[in-house]
Amino acid sequence: MKHADIKDILNCPARFLESNRDSYDLEDLVPVCGWVRTSRESKNVAFLEINDGTCLRNLQVVIIKDRFSRSEYEKALPVGTSVCVTGTLVPSEKNGVELLMETVQVLGECPQDFPLQKKHHTLEYLRTIPHLRPRTRYFEAVLRMRSTLSFAIHEYFQSEGFVYVHTPIITGSDCEGAGEMFRVTTNAWDAKGETAEEYYRKDFFGAKAGLTVSGQLEGEMAAMGLGRIYTFGPTFRAEHSNTTRHAAEFWQIEPEVCFADLNDIMDIAEDFIKSIVNSVLGNCQDELEYFEGQGAKGLRARLYSVVHQDFARVSYTEAIQILQKSGKEFKYPVEWGVDLQTEHERYLTEEVFKKPVFVTDYPMDIKAFYMKQNPDGRTVAATDLLVPGIGEIIGCSEREADYGKLVAAMEKRGMPLEAYREYLDTRKYGSVPHSGFGLGFERMLMYVTGVQNIRDTLLFPRTVGSL
Ligand code: 4AD
Ligand code: MG
Repeated sequence: MKHADIKDILNCPARFLESNRDSYDLEDLVPVCGWVRTSRESKNVAFLEINDGTCLRNLQVVIIKDRFSRSEYEKALPVGTSVCVTGTLVPSEKNGVELLMETVQVLGECPQDFPLQKKHHTLEYLRTIPHLRPRTRYFEAVLRMRSTLSFAIHEYFQSEGFVYVHTPIITGSDCEGAGEMFRVTTNAWDAKGETAEEYYRKDFFGAKAGLTVSGQLEGEMAAMGLGRIYTFGPTFRAEHSNTTRHAAEFWQIEPEVCFADLNDIMDIAEDFIKSIVNSVLGNCQDELEYFEGQGAKGLRARLYSVVHQDFARVSYTEAIQILQKSGKEFKYPVEWGVDLQTEHERYLTEEVFKKPVFVTDYPMDIKAFYMKQNPDGRTVAATDLLVPGIGEIIGCSEREADYGKLVAAMEKRGMPLEAYREYLDTRKYGSVPHSGFGLGFERMLMYVTGVQNIRDTLLFPRTVGSL
């Protein structure tokens, strides 16, 4: 269907008319397709607000009633109806430009039980109708920013010479070692086996399989030939964390860089975050302005300050001291050796540093097996990037490149070495110092939009108890 994008019309109506006039058969008539977001009528005129998904703003269509019989436009009035309208563009004081209707074709009628009748629905209500949420301005803005952010991420790594690799979704190895993998099976629900081994042997892969929690281990293997790689794909965690920041299916960006230590990878992570925030600022002004009106006050000022300031860096040991001296009553008590909880992370980044902060050199016992062991024998060269409003968005580390030390860390955790044979080969054959990180894509999206709940960043969120 030949039609004009509303974005082009609203952005520059004059130029649009000049340059596109010849493209349409209908001389000066401009065809527009979209969904009716609202409509209203007075005695002589009816108005349709049309949105086609190309921008957040609607195009107002003006129907001069006495030029039509009612039956010609009546079916276009209900909210949610899809239409193709042609008309002439006329200047309007309030909207810049409006479409004076000449013809209207209803593409799909929309009955009264369409659930999005009101102008404002709560996010809680919208979560009950995820299949219709993209028809709202809120989700149009979220999903478009999701797309822009994805593109900015690829743009950054591609321009920096990273190779995009696709790591498997179905895997046998639990990267984080936290046992939060979803199982993948074709065994019947009542399949039996004398032992667990026999049960898995009868399964599709002849072995226990699951959905990946991280592409890191396979990413490291690719980096061992390509030098600098990144992954960008879905990851899955069967965590029973029913919070506003946890999803069972989320997307992760995981670069892996050879010949880089912890400081090098922190520099890359900081440059990367600044670059993608800058991209969003350059490409999503309408959406950012909209989110500011939705409760994210000062969003753009905050994002500009992210781009223009150095991130803070503090060691875990110093962070613990800051928390202990804070005089604050935390729900989870603080002492050296405990994992930082969201309340601690948010206190550090929101009240102490007031900007993104890398916390470095965590105790070995609370972090994953693959992290480089520091000479002190009790910490690892790992860092989490914490940001105001969210807490952790990046998990990062230099990797243990020494075969013997890596095996020792795995044995200490009781991990089955045989299952990690290929991973260990990377340390056996020409091992190199290397580092990488994982950015949680939805948390990053929350950070740049001000969206408060991860369920509102995903088209169809998967969380514990909800598919
Ligand atoms: O800190 P995590 O567990 O680190 C890893 O998976 C490493 N293998 C990454 C690497 O070094 N290549 O997860 C990385 C990030 C977290 O900082 C967080 O932003 C996000 O992934 N994340 C989640 N996001 C949404 N829902 C969940 N359940 C998440 N779990 C982690
Ligand atoms: Mg982490």
